[in-house]
Amino acid sequence: MDQYRHFDELVNLEQGTIAREIFVDEDIYNQELEKVFTRAWLFVGHESQVPEPGDFFTSRMGTESVILTRDFENKIHVLLNNCTHRGMKVCLYDEGNSATFTCPFHAWSFAPDGKLVGVPHENELYSHVLEKDKWALIEVAKMENYKGSIWATWDKTAPDFFTYLGSAKAHLDLALDSLDGSEGGTEVFGGVHKWISPCNWKVPAENFCGDSYHNPSHISVDMIGIGPSAGQGEKGRRDNELADAQHVWVSFPGGHGIHSALKPENNAYIESYKDNPIVEEYYRHCYEERQKRLGDDARLVPFVGTIFPNTSYHGRQPRALCAWHPNGPESAEIWRFFLVDKGAPKEVKDMLRRYYMRYSGPAGMTEQDDMENWNYATAGSRGTIANRLPYNYQQSQNIHKINDPVPGLVSTQMTEENARQYYKCWSSYMQDKSWDEIMSHPAQVKDERI
Ligand code: FES
Ligand SMILES: [Fe+2]
Repeated sequence: MDQYRHFDELVNLEQGTIAREIFVDEDIYNQELEKVFTRAWLFVGHESQVPEPGDFFTSRMGTESVILTRDFENKIHVLLNNCTHRGMKVCLYDEGNSATFTCPFHAWSFAPDGKLVGVPHENELYSHVLEKDKWALIEVAKMENYKGSIWATWDKTAPDFFTYLGSAKAHLDLALDSLDGSEGGTEVFGGVHKWISPCNWKVPAENFCGDSYHNPSHISVDMIGIGPSAGQGEKGRRDNELADAQHVWVSFPGGHGIHSALKPENNAYIESYKDNPIVEEYYRHCYEERQKRLGDDARLVPFVGTIFPNTSYHGRQPRALCAWHPNGPESAEIWRFFLVDKGAPKEVKDMLRRYYMRYSGPAGMTEQDDMENWNYATAGSRGTIANRLPYNYQQSQNIHKINDPVPGLVSTQMTEENARQYYKCWSSYMQDKSWDEIMSHPAQVKDERI
């Protein structure tokens, strides 16, 4: 038997089943770190977190600490936070500004571009044998600054970031572009929420692929009304801007899954921030500008999505990028970066900050519902008896269309197709498949970017 048959059995798309052990098994988790997290493109941070030369933000790729830096030539780097002498972290801070990173152990110093620039007693102790240029901090193989969001991979054979994203790019754009439709222009504001949750990292990543079926678990926040017009009597956790839209659930080569929506032609502005007239006016203005700028393309509006393997976004209400860092088979370290238009008025930022915190993050009312599900679902994946039955992923099988009405493998009804394709892709990584094989699935989708 082929040694990799195992993964095709664990993720069985023909039957629409996935074995529970992929969420709790220690050996599978360790293989993920090696096979997924050293190859895939991972989200590291945002350029707005390192605006000045010498600025740094400490992040993670998989389980390893990395430093996002801006050097004195204004170039951004992603460096392994691991001293090349004995492995001590050279940076123990979450963020800041420094001309060098001086290792706390024996005080080797590294510049923001990673170069080793200082070694105590170098001449006496190393007798000129130390070739400092060989002992720089390890730098990622590839890095991309996409509209301010910084992505990186350790694999120099990985496809470039845009090939990797494929047509999922148009949906990620909706989170990264300004609300008025101009390119980019967003910033991370209010700090990064970081917390540890007892769930496998794939569970929330799958949730953000477009698991709209779990809406009943949010019924309490819907009843209370925590949305941006709650004070004006709107129920729900967000104002329903998409009430008149055709929802689309789309999967892409590379394992990305998104849930967006297409507004009808000639759609009118829907008031969605009624609690504050300044905010409402800003959103109306942005809507009108976006219509002018994008024309028919303005009909595409975001909901959520996951860029394989562990980066998700909330596109609009609320708006954020999330990283689901692996932290053990049954633990995820969750980081949420809230996004806002850089040029938005203070009133808008203030209102959004309050709304985002009400909704998302460790104390967010909606995210608390989600975490309860993720945590118990992870715990429920172990157990001798429980493990006899795989999970059911049969929802809306074989009803998808190709490139209709948007590029990708598309469903216009609620579906688990995105999750199926996500795990199919995960299985390809776990079988050490080539980039060509990884990027050619789903086979039916001919992505013009690939
Ligand atoms: S471990 Fe960093 S200088 Fe020795
Ligand atoms: Fe949810």
